[in-house]
Amino acid sequence: MTSTSDTPQPEAPKKPVKDPWDLPDVSGLVVGVLGGTGDQGRGLAYRLARAGQKVIIGSRAAERAQAAAEELGLGVEGADNAECARRSDIVIVAVPWDGHAKTLESLREELAGKLVVDCVNPLGFDKKGAYALKPEEGSAAEQAAALLPDSRVTAAFHHLSAVLLQDPAVEEIDTDVMVLGEARADTDLVQALAGRIPGMRGIFAGRLRNAHQVESLVANLISVNRRYKAHAGLRVTDVS
Ligand SMILES: NC(=O)c1ccc[n+]([C@@H]2O[C@H](COP(=O)([O-])OP(=O)(O)OC[C@H]3O[C@@H](n4cnc5c(N)ncnc54)[C@H](OP(=O)(O)O)[C@@H]3O)[C@@H](O)[C@H]2O)c1
Repeated sequence: MTSTSDTPQPEAPKKPVKDPWDLPDVSGLVVGVLGGTGDQGRGLAYRLARAGQKVIIGSRAAERAQAAAEELGLGVEGADNAECARRSDIVIVAVPWDGHAKTLESLREELAGKLVVDCVNPLGFDKKGAYALKPEEGSAAEQAAALLPDSRVTAAFHHLSAVLLQDPAVEEIDTDVMVLGEARADTDLVQALAGRIPGMRGIFAGRLRNAHQVESLVANLISVNRRYKAHAGLRVTDVS
């Protein structure tokens, strides 16, 4: 007998709801930072290494990366961007927007299969202050995804103050980190990575098509910082 839409169907077993805070252990993963000689990359490298993560700083010139790594200590290593990408499990992209596409295009092979975390904010500056640029692909993160079809591209760490990250006297980085991406397994890993830094919490904030707002919000934070002489972070309320 064939069943019709009127025939009662057995209920599919319900999948147990996964606790969103049940995040993987990332402590054994190697984190590379492309453009890690700059303020943001160096700051992230410092915080992650201070939390016990193995970190490799990348640069267009290996010797600049090695010098920055030596300054940081904490077991941080330096290499050119290609070697940094090759040797890392998770690769944070911390180069200026101007060099974003060219850098990623040149590292497509080394980044294949890697979890890429883009923190690039495409911004312009004029006498009125900072403003959001509109990348053709929608956002820096979507540009990365388009250029790196064989990588797992996510976006996070946009709203951090490099000043606070780099200040050894600051014990905790008091902020949430919005994490975006297409695969839950990948965004979970990035949330877990953010959570390694004391005070920081990684929050899932949607797919890459919504990365533009997250990247653009930095223009607002820069206005906040200028007005209040602050290093503002962000908290998402009622999420626990
Ligand atoms: N600064 C912040 O507070 C902050 C916060 C959140 C997100 N971000 C984002 O993080 C990224 C880096 O910011 P940053 O302030 O650290 O920038 P940065 O100091 O100007 O640049 C970072 C590094 O990128 C490399 N670089 C410079 N021009 C490049 C190019 N054309 N192509 C490839 N590599 C280049 C340089 O390293 P080598 O010369 O050694 O290769 C430089 O040290 C930006 O996209 C920014 O939007 C910054």
